[in-house]
Amino acid sequence: MNVVTGAFGYTGKHITQRLLSAGERVRTLTGHPNRPNPFGERVSVVPFNFEDPVELVKSLQGATTLYNTYWVRFAHGDFTFDRAVHNTKVLIKAAEEAGISRIVHISITNPSEHSPLPYFKGKATLEMAIVSSKLSYAIVRPAVIFGGGEDILINNIAWLLRHFPVFGVPGSGDYRLQPVFVEDLAEIAVDAARHDRSLILDAVGAEVYTFGQLVELIAGAVGSRARIAHLSKERTLSALRLLGWLVRDVVLTAEEVEGLMSDLLVSSDAPRGKTRLSEWLRQNAEHVGARYASELDRHYRKAGGAH
Ligand SMILES: NC(=O)c1ccc[n+]([C@@H]2O[C@H](COP(=O)([O-])OP(=O)(O)OC[C@H]3O[C@@H](n4cnc5c(N)ncnc54)[C@H](OP(=O)(O)O)[C@@H]3O)[C@@H](O)[C@H]2O)c1
Repeated sequence: MNVVTGAFGYTGKHITQRLLSAGERVRTLTGHPNRPNPFGERVSVVPFNFEDPVELVKSLQGATTLYNTYWVRFAHGDFTFDRAVHNTKVLIKAAEEAGISRIVHISITNPSEHSPLPYFKGKATLEMAIVSSKLSYAIVRPAVIFGGGEDILINNIAWLLRHFPVFGVPGSGDYRLQPVFVEDLAEIAVDAARHDRSLILDAVGAEVYTFGQLVELIAGAVGSRARIAHLSKERTLSALRLLGWLVRDVVLTAEEVEGLMSDLLVSSDAPRGKTRLSEWLRQNAEHVGARYASELDRHYRKAGGAH
């Protein structure tokens, strides 16, 4: 039996699909236990129960592997990075008590306890908590994830390029990203569960783009004629605030812009993802960016939540 956090979410859904295809059983822990379950009876559903560790331990018992995708993209309302770190530590402790033997933890490329960015710092804190736990672990560090109909960054760049005459690139645009296909990430995660020894690995695709090149690639794929304008960080943030108001979402936070510009979404490891973004874009040009993907809708507005 496997437990996957967030099997109705993005990465968790693809990990779950892969486990089910291999004939394995899955239970999910989620903040949205009443969301439509695309897997039907094949996946049992339990709420997170971070505030009730006894129940949380019970919900993990009988499983051998925990796939953890739980995290927060940005602080919003009373949901902070500190709370996500705290909850994940509660989950790790509960996994130890429940007798889970291996955790596959989805992290991020280049986490650092010294990072000024709470996303990258929080991820480093959790990696250390896992490494010093009793669990055997596979820490999988993706950069930007694409595909599967639910990615946010690449989809929303495409949406903007389809709908606006100008696209603003923060700064020079020469900072790099190494996107990984969501199904490749799921494969890497499930393969990583099968090893005995603890390991930490980056999960990135074969193609590295500067942000400017990425925007041009997506613009070409969706047939956008938008003018690419380079904006200062301040102007980028003003534009993002206006855009956020228009789409009723947090499009990208100041910290995410900082993260993008800090060259953190690349790896010096050999790429493990086989699917090339350029090829995937050619095959999915019709759909990518056809609709805006809203983080706030996904986590704060849709029915069935229990955060
Ligand atoms: N997406 C990317 O491009 C990307 C890139 C690098 C690393 N990662 C990492 O990959 C992992 C999975 O990312 P994902 O994009 O697949 O995430 P996701 O499906 O949107 O969410 C993963 C899990 O976190 C919970 N969660 C997310 N935002 C939350 C919020 N604001 N409040 C409470 N719970 C929240 C979800 O709860 P529910 O079960 O209630 O939905 C779900 O269980 C994360 O650890 C992330 O840091 C993602």
